[in-house]
This record gives sequence, structure tokens and C-alpha cells, in this order.
Amino acid sequence: SRKPIVAIDGPAGAGKSTVSRQVAQRLDLLYLDTGAMYRALTWLVLESGVAIDDEPSIAELASQCEIELDAQPTPIEKQSRAINVSVNGQDVTQAIRSLEVTSKVSAIAAQPIVRNELVRQQRRYGKNGGIVIDGRDIGTYVFPDAELKLFLTASVQERARRRQQDLKNQGKDIISLDELEQAIYDRDLKDSTRALAPLRQAEDAIEIQTDNLSIAEVVDRIVQLYQERA
Ligand code: C5P
Repeated sequence: SRKPIVAIDGPAGAGKSTVSRQVAQRLDLLYLDTGAMYRALTWLVLESGVAIDDEPSIAELASQCEIELDAQPTPIEKQSRAINVSVNGQDVTQAIRSLEVTSKVSAIAAQPIVRNELVRQQRRYGKNGGIVIDGRDIGTYVFPDAELKLFLTASVQERARRRQQDLKNQGKDIISLDELEQAIYDRDLKDSTRALAPLRQAEDAIEIQTDNLSIAEVVDRIVQLYQERA
């Protein structure tokens, strides 16, 4: 029988990937960042010069590309900012976090043919369980029978503030809070209004509102919920 699956969904910038990786480490589970897969494909589309509305060409790229993600639990002190991601053997760990990819990814992730292909890969990846998976539709669509479902949220203002702090910490150009709020708002709107598997909270998901919680507090809460149910 399958080992447990922990599904962690929520809007952009709620801290899902940082939290999910740490939860995976604490519970010795694998980790799958599904957003990184949509980002990797978006990077490939841009790199190939394919128009973002050219669905047949994008479908071909999606079905032929090999996306590799680092799934093994990494000690928290050794965790870099982002998990290692490659597409067709090329390291895109940094490239998939660019503003360009971030602004285009929702349009590509909305295409049913793209979702069918990447969801197929995600289900294959998680079929034996023992994994934390983060995204937008994990609890509602990819693994509706996941043993534990969390929905991480934070106000748009707080998410923009955290994003600005991230940029500062990385020594990158600072973007105004207004612009960051707008970008987050736009991406959430696109992700929650698409026809297939939109962003939404599963009925049986536990919401964690993180505005006033540290990463460690969110991780502790999820680990505790997992242990109560295991
Ligand atoms: O989680 P992250 O911000 O990296 O996700 C990038 C984008 O990938 C999202 O804004 C969304 O358009 C898409 N995505 C999705 N379904 C998922 C995960 C991400 O559509 N399960």
C-alpha cells in the first residue's frame, strides 16, 4: 500500500516551498515542487522562442522535455534557497526564478495540454507516497486522496513584504511593494480563474494563515498534524 502524501497548496509567495522542504526533511519524506515544473517548462518555451499562446508547439515541448528535480531530503542547514532543477540536462535552478518566467508561467500553466502532461509526471512521481508535494491543485486534483492537506495563506501585503525582503537578502534590485503586490495579485487571479484545476482550497484541507507565524512555527504545526494522524 501507498505511504502518506502531504499536499501543500496555496497562493503565490505564501512560503510553500520553504515550508514543504523543511517538513520533508523533518519527516524524512521526499519533496516535489510542482511550481518548479511549470516554471521549467515556461523557461524552455521562452528559450525555444515559441510564442506563449502556441499551444501545439508547447504541447510538444511538454511531452518531450525531461525535467529533473532534486527530491531527496536535505538537512535544513544545507538547504540552498531553491531546489536544483534541470531541463534536458541544463541547470535552470536560478533561471526559472526570473521575473520573465514568473510573469509568463500562469499563462502556460493554464493550458490543459500542459497540465495533463505535468500532472501525469507528478502522479507517477508520487505514486508510492512518502512525499510532500506543493503546488496549487495537489489536494484538489493531482492527489485528491492525500492523507494530509494544508492550505497556506498570507495577506497580499505580507507576501509582497516577504518577497521584497528575499530580493534584498539576495542583493537583487529592489522592486516597490506596490509592484510586488500587483504581480502577486495578478498571478493569483490567473491561477484561480483558469478552467482546469484552478487554485482553490480543498474542502478537507487545513488552512494555515501565516501572516504572524515564522517558518519554524508553520513547519512545527504541520509536523505535529502529520504525527497526530500517522
Ligand atoms: O509555486 P510557484 O510560485 O513556483 O508556481 C509557479 C506557477 O506555476 C504558479 O503561479 C501557477 O501558475 C503554476 N502552478 C500550477 N499548478 C501547480 C503549481 C504551480 O499551475 N500545482
